[in-house]
Amino acid sequence: MMLSKKVIEKYNVPSPRYTSYPTILDWNRNTFTPEEFTTEFLEKERKKAHSTSVYIHLPFCESLCTFCGCHKYITKRHSVEAPYIDSLLQEWDIYNQLNGDSIAVSEVHIGGGTPTFFSANELKRLLSPIMKNKKNEGLYSFEGHPNHTSKEQLEILYELGFRRVSFGIQDYSLHVQQAINRIQSYEQVKEVTETAREMGYVTISHDLVFGLPRQRMEDIDRTIDHTLTLRPNAISLYSYAHVPWVKGTGQRGFSKSDLPGAEDKRALYEKAKERLLSAGYLEIGFDHFALPDEPLALAMESGDLNRTFMGYTTSNTDRMIGLGASAISEYDFGYAQNNKDIKAYQTSVNAGQLPVIKGHIHSHEDATLKTHILELMCRFETSYKPGSIIEEKLRHFDSTFRSFVNDGLLIMRDQKLIITRAGKPFVRNICMTLDPYNNKEQLEQRFSRSI
Ligand SMILES: C[S@@+](CC[C@H](N)C(=O)[O-])C[C@H]1O[C@@H](n2cnc3c(N)ncnc32)[C@H](O)[C@@H]1O
Ligand code: SF4
Repeated sequence: MMLSKKVIEKYNVPSPRYTSYPTILDWNRNTFTPEEFTTEFLEKERKKAHSTSVYIHLPFCESLCTFCGCHKYITKRHSVEAPYIDSLLQEWDIYNQLNGDSIAVSEVHIGGGTPTFFSANELKRLLSPIMKNKKNEGLYSFEGHPNHTSKEQLEILYELGFRRVSFGIQDYSLHVQQAINRIQSYEQVKEVTETAREMGYVTISHDLVFGLPRQRMEDIDRTIDHTLTLRPNAISLYSYAHVPWVKGTGQRGFSKSDLPGAEDKRALYEKAKERLLSAGYLEIGFDHFALPDEPLALAMESGDLNRTFMGYTTSNTDRMIGLGASAISEYDFGYAQNNKDIKAYQTSVNAGQLPVIKGHIHSHEDATLKTHILELMCRFETSYKPGSIIEEKLRHFDSTFRSFVNDGLLIMRDQKLIITRAGKPFVRNICMTLDPYNNKEQLEQRFSRSI
């Protein structure tokens, strides 16, 4: 079903990406002390049997891409590497002490910023102690910048057990790359992709972005042409999130008039999606694609797809420990985020203190809604029991849910909410209606738009 321009406009409103629930702006601990965190951790986490994933945030980049919404610090001074790794190792030690035993990891993801800003030796110094106690069948992945990923870095990470790498591509057209201050040739991407493949990396993923400044239909076409030639196993097709009000994003160098309007942006997405589907990729969630034999595609088929701060993932552990400035940890009891300020982060850990500064402790209702929202985001349907909180929401927002149904986004039957194919890009709108923290008045200042 093709949605009309009117329907697209209607639902193209700011909405959370639900990589956490509640979304980070709605967390209930604005000042989360290390003591409070430690108590929660020791009482509720240590006693259980655990599978643990670790997210490590390496925030440095050599130059600013002006579209970027990630937590990063721009510097060419590589002297920052060693002290930052020292702090990460110190932080890891604190967690091992709290745990009372050295932590076995089943998953490690290194994100940024640019993880490959760090030399191969520093990466090895950081990861050897963490990977020493790894489960062999686990998932180990990192983000690489195609312009700054050497063969040596790929080799060291491979030796340590990493088998998945995602490269940031965004768009191959020069005038778009100029608008976002990120010049990166097809040849460079080809070389690093082929080197990783020859070395034995099992999953090579490319990040593409639609809706970038000055990006037109022929740019998306060119980007997909090149992508299909290199045939990465997985593709993230992100909607450009325009959030210039978020401190530190540095989104500048282009004006709002350089950005495609809602309908044009949607057409860019549809074009990319149609071409990827006809080239044999499967659609995963609403912004990922993967070849059918990829773990992401298999997880979608088996209903095991998950969503974390890293987006759609096959990750499935009981807890995620976030290391590094701005990193977020996720537990059954809630969330905790580290100080975003690199200096303050380092000062805390170097003094032997966990650098957590805010977080969330789930109420019973939070935990229930989190399950439903995760199911909608990952499986596009959720079922509920009579008398449940979902039934209450359906009653309360009856006319909104009826509009979703009438506009072809949602089917409601047999105590199930089922999102249609046409409704998938708007799954966030449906989740937002279930979200009691959702503040209509402030949406514009809080989130990027659905498409
Ligand atoms: C940490 S970056 C990638 C790693 C590495 N720094 C690089 O640039 O190649 C992760 C990905 O987030 C996506 N991203 C960053 N800012 C974005 C934004 N404002 N909207 C949508 N996607 C964005 C990009 O696709 C980027 O490749
Ligand atoms: S896109 Fe990557 S390299 Fe560019 S600023 Fe963001 S994190 Fe750094």
